[in-house]
Amino acid sequence: MYYPIYRGRRLRRTEVLRSLVRETTLSVSDFIYPMFVVEGKNIKKEIKSMPGVFQLSLENFVKEAKEVKKLGIPAILIFGIPKKKDEIGSQAYDPKGIVQQAIRAVKKACPDLLVITDVCLCEFTSHGHCGIIKDGYVLNDETLDLLAAMALTHAAAGADIVAPSDMMDGRVIAIRETLDEEGFYNIPIMSYAAKYASAYYGPFRDVAESAPKFGDRRSYQMDPANSDEAIREVGLDIEEGADIVMVKPALSYLDIIAKVRGEYDLPLAAYNVSGEYSMIKAAAKLGYIDGERVMMETLLSMKRAGADIIITYFAKDAAKVLNR
Ligand code: PBG
Ligand code: ZN
Repeated sequence: MYYPIYRGRRLRRTEVLRSLVRETTLSVSDFIYPMFVVEGKNIKKEIKSMPGVFQLSLENFVKEAKEVKKLGIPAILIFGIPKKKDEIGSQAYDPKGIVQQAIRAVKKACPDLLVITDVCLCEFTSHGHCGIIKDGYVLNDETLDLLAAMALTHAAAGADIVAPSDMMDGRVIAIRETLDEEGFYNIPIMSYAAKYASAYYGPFRDVAESAPKFGDRRSYQMDPANSDEAIREVGLDIEEGADIVMVKPALSYLDIIAKVRGEYDLPLAAYNVSGEYSMIKAAAKLGYIDGERVMMETLLSMKRAGADIIITYFAKDAAKVLNR
């Protein structure tokens, strides 16, 4: 069937027609909102490179979580910034650490808001790497015990889902075994399965104060040039017990999202990372683009590529648009 019998424009004529045949829809229930908690009181510090994103002390953090819930966003992803950092990231797996406190406070204030926690050492280590270091190398197997201990303290504090983002080999099975041994067999793992060594994380490292003090993360995060490897990485995490898998970043990796979607049927999350957020915010501020429309189009592209879930700093802004 082709022109003049087929006319694609027939179904594009009005908004009602367009919405009748629309293939992809965005919904507030797709979103996870990342949030940053810091030690101290009365802190609400906006991050220059990420307008609208704040470091929040506990009471402000809870207030913001309530607002997120009110907008209909089902989940938050918690990152913590401790006062004291050390070589082995002790604060990461301290049951009284800032993240563990935030989990308890949020679950108490809004029990229905899903609390997901980032499991990684980089915000907690003095050197800013995602694992413990020996002779300048990030040790894999020695780091696994610490990650498992960290995930366990999160679950014990009431986290609904734990999300390892470190890219050590074997972390999913290590965390699964520890959680199960301690009775947390119902706590899902959302693994950052295909996480690339990306320059798009720049603004995040400003807000999380987690930039590595030496070198980079290329010996553990993936090479942006690789696609088959992503399929392998996701497959391994699924075999190790991941319940939700993630591709990160999202925008420059839509091909990876589509490919993973084609290979596996697990729930798939896309992380619309800090640099992707900052670029749109900056261009909108300069008047170069219509920020709201570009935001919605960008989020839609991630769903269209095959993501079920979008982790995004735009969650609140987009929810306001969708709730209109
Ligand atoms: C920690 C972590 C990072 C992000 C999420 N978890 C940064 C990194 O790997 O350096 C990036 C999130 C973003 O850029 O929005 N491992
Ligand atoms: Zn890390």
